[in-house]
Amino acid sequence: MATAIAIDGPAGAGKSTIAKKIAQKLGMVYVDTGAMYRAMGLYFHRLGIEPGEGERIGRLADQAEVSIAYEDGKQQVYLNGENVTSLIRAEEAGNMASAVSVYPQVRRLLVRQQQKLASVQNVVMDGRDIGTVVLPEADVKIFLTASARVRAERRCEDLKNRGLPCDMEKVEKDIEDRDWRDTHRAESPLRQAEDAILVDTSDMTIDQVVDRIITLYREKTAGSLETKKKEV
Ligand code: DC
Repeated sequence: MATAIAIDGPAGAGKSTIAKKIAQKLGMVYVDTGAMYRAMGLYFHRLGIEPGEGERIGRLADQAEVSIAYEDGKQQVYLNGENVTSLIRAEEAGNMASAVSVYPQVRRLLVRQQQKLASVQNVVMDGRDIGTVVLPEADVKIFLTASARVRAERRCEDLKNRGLPCDMEKVEKDIEDRDWRDTHRAESPLRQAEDAILVDTSDMTIDQVVDRIITLYREKTAGSLETKKKEV
């Protein structure tokens, strides 16, 4: 049976950087579910559809084929056959993703795909609803967070490193707005699963977080092997 680590948390908590490193160290596949919602966001944005047009979004969602592939070990995201990996990183794509992810038709499509990916390989999957909805049976569930200020600083650092401008106040406000939408939507809101472990990364380095999660995973899986041995 495939094994899984589920990492949920708000935007900018460091989920993707950390999940990627853990996957590399444990020889597992990293699945970035936010990238799939971003590709959906791009699809509707290109159609000129506004976030509030729920009826049209629901009707057109299944015409967007979002898939992920791995090339040279890197995740690539395809939207109806086009590689959109570099297009979905802009702030607007993230905001549009958050806006369209409230619709059940969009979520249902992507959740099914994510579950399929996790059934055939060992995954480290990050998102908002992985521990609660997508992989409720994951071996380890982590809820990763950091203060809004720290997350905005990280986002700005990231944008600057890519030569893009950053308005700190605006990024922090966007993060707070997105947190609110992600935690208050009716469909699969962002929340910590009851059996998830809370990790606040505000004062931790990336390597400290990675080591902590790997330790938790090893303890958990060693524990379940012990239980299985006892059962036999
Ligand atoms: O993790 P991210 O910033 O790339 O995600 C973009 C948006 O997609 C986020 O604001 C909410 C949505 N999302 C979601 O609803 N469920 C997921 N599993 C992943 C992302």
